[in-house]
Amino acid sequence: MPEQWLPPIHWDGDAVAILDQRILPHQEKFLRCTTPEQVISAIKTMAIRGAPALGVAGGLALALGARSIQTSDPKEFRRKFSRICHKVREARPTGANLSWAVKRLYSVVVENPKAAIFELQELILQEAKAILTEDVVSNRQIGRWGREVVPKGARILTYCNAGALATADYGTAVGVIRAAFETDPTISVVSCETRPLLQGARLTAFELIRAGIPVTLITDNAVGSLISQGRIDLAVVGADRIAANGDTANKIGTYMVAVLARTHDVPFYVAAPRSTIDPGLPDGSGIPIEHRDPKEVTHLFGKRIAPDGVGALNPAFDVTPNKYISGIITEVGVLRKPFSRTIRKALQT
Ligand code: MRU
Repeated sequence: MPEQWLPPIHWDGDAVAILDQRILPHQEKFLRCTTPEQVISAIKTMAIRGAPALGVAGGLALALGARSIQTSDPKEFRRKFSRICHKVREARPTGANLSWAVKRLYSVVVENPKAAIFELQELILQEAKAILTEDVVSNRQIGRWGREVVPKGARILTYCNAGALATADYGTAVGVIRAAFETDPTISVVSCETRPLLQGARLTAFELIRAGIPVTLITDNAVGSLISQGRIDLAVVGADRIAANGDTANKIGTYMVAVLARTHDVPFYVAAPRSTIDPGLPDGSGIPIEHRDPKEVTHLFGKRIAPDGVGALNPAFDVTPNKYISGIITEVGVLRKPFSRTIRKALQT
């Protein structure tokens, strides 16, 4: 990223600054959120999105929430904080990082029963900031591990946006691409546009162009054609929630890419921090899938493209069974099959 790049989410001293992704790439504007409700609204309307970024946003929303509680009664503080935790966790259901961050911040309260309220408010803010800092460190490590699986001159396909914008900075799948490009500037990227909200066309293409990495945009339905013609060497995507056996929820359409990659012997990697792994889910069947407004399908940029009266389905994520995944690139290494064993070990590291 060029030097003028401001991280997509940061704490500005009093508020959470969120780069509004709904208007990218045409406008770069930060929303200044001073209440947890404003952050929740930014999450629901996808001004900020991407599982790790949602974890960071959720944490900072709770820091704002803790500060806003006016009481000197510790019990009342706990009750009110728990209510805010619940609202933040419910903002979007699929990305594991949001509930992971809420749990982590709630445990600050549980683990400090004797702390004064002002101390808790400060501890919660520090923990939320730690989530942000750790995410950037994790992404750089994911990049370093991930570049080892990228062949020289690879033509890499990616889906949706698992870049700086989907995280605290640098990105997961795009982090792998950035790190690979540092040592091999002959690699290139194919970005799928990613209907309905076009995160690939609007966000991934924007980030890669900024980073000077060659990128070509395709429609989602061109993936099969390109892969079958031998024009893709590797696919790498991010993840929203990974079950204990490696089954992975990611943006709707990812499963289709994984099956095509397997059919044509193209390695298919998932890149994600361990905070995206949900060890409580034995497999992908229990991953909650968000269904969004059908209008995202029937309309484009607020303009109706389908005839009145037609119904539309809008699942935001699908689950790729672990058998299609060549490896899961985490901050502690590239996990291989059997994922149940390697994931368990990675979580103990
Ligand atoms: O609906 P979104 O844009 O929040 O979904 C995000 C994704 O599915 C991304 O592709 C990503 O891999 C997860 S975040 C790194």
